[in-house]
Amino acid sequence: MGLALYAPYLGYYVGGAKKFGEEGDFITAPELTPLFGQALAAQVEEIMRASASEVIEAGAGSGRLAVDLLLELERRECPPERYGILELSAELRARQRETLVRCAPRLAERVYWLDDLPPAFSGAVLANEVLDAMPLHVIAVRGGAVFERGVALAADAPETFAWADRPATGAVLEAARRLPLPGGGGEGRGEGGESGYVTEINLAAAAWVAEWGARLRRGALVLIDYGYPRDEFYAPLRARGTLMCHYRQRAHEDPFLWPGLADMTGSVDFSAMAEAGFDAGLDVLGYTSQGQFLLNCGVLDCLARREPEGAASYARAASAVRRLTMAREMGESFKVLALGREMDTPLLGFVRGDRTCAL
Ligand SMILES: C[S@@+](CC[C@H](N)C(=O)[O-])C[C@H]1O[C@@H](n2cnc3c(N)ncnc32)[C@H](O)[C@@H]1O
Repeated sequence: MGLALYAPYLGYYVGGAKKFGEEGDFITAPELTPLFGQALAAQVEEIMRASASEVIEAGAGSGRLAVDLLLELERRECPPERYGILELSAELRARQRETLVRCAPRLAERVYWLDDLPPAFSGAVLANEVLDAMPLHVIAVRGGAVFERGVALAADAPETFAWADRPATGAVLEAARRLPLPGGGGEGRGEGGESGYVTEINLAAAAWVAEWGARLRRGALVLIDYGYPRDEFYAPLRARGTLMCHYRQRAHEDPFLWPGLADMTGSVDFSAMAEAGFDAGLDVLGYTSQGQFLLNCGVLDCLARREPEGAASYARAASAVRRLTMAREMGESFKVLALGREMDTPLLGFVRGDRTCAL
């Protein structure tokens, strides 16, 4: 997964194809509407006022969220002194710079790019749909034993990839042993078949969160992604795991189909992220659905405040808000987790409907 997404010249996020938006492979919340960034800005403002006037956004995609946040924070008279973007892909960095200079020229000079996490930081750290793009381990549980699934060449068709299982060892086995994994698959709906119960463990995402524990002096991380608390993630009904691929607005489950051209992603185990942060010294500040978080942050006020541009434009904006907040759309499948240090709670985004106890 690491190679398919990030190998130099060939990886999905490194190659030049258009990924985000309607002409790309998938649409993220900031690509759908500026109202997502405008609502998030209220949470960022609160974190900055309690820590420092700095933001770091990880995996900034096309740069759309950076533009929306900077413009809204300027309107709220609290533009961050510096806005760092932590981005692995050189091609995306160039695209982000171009978007910022075109859409927020006055504020673009506050933006800088980072190759790695800073040694120390105070302020707000944001990651929208970044944890799901970190390379994960696929495991299979059969007859009480845990196997790690790797990629091999198929014996009967040498140019074709195939899964190859071997007994899990080391960090993967250790992490698997701590999970409430259904024994041998086959329970309930979504039976895993002869592979057993197939699922994922994202050690890289947990390590990334833990790294912030050592570096965040004061402030909060706001992590937004699709996923579940642990008990739901490793439920018997999810016996085929959550690894998905996206190619031109179509989702499929076969990572061996067009590696490097299709996006690859897995849902986030938010309990694991909260635990990684907590073990690294961060406080769990809140956990809720994206819909509840955006409503708490005033997304409906942002909608009402839009410049009058006609009924059709209002209807489009209202429909985007519905998609972001409704339980049957992105409102429930996406969650928001806040981790931080030296911050008072509740944070604005979690004042109603906090579900930390579900983690
Ligand atoms: C699905 S895209 C989301 C883009 C954007 N946040 C949005 O919402 O439109 C995933 C992004 O995460 C980046 N990414 C993945 N792993 C990362 C890491 N360890 N550090 C920083 N960025 C990372 C990718 O390069 C890509 O820009």
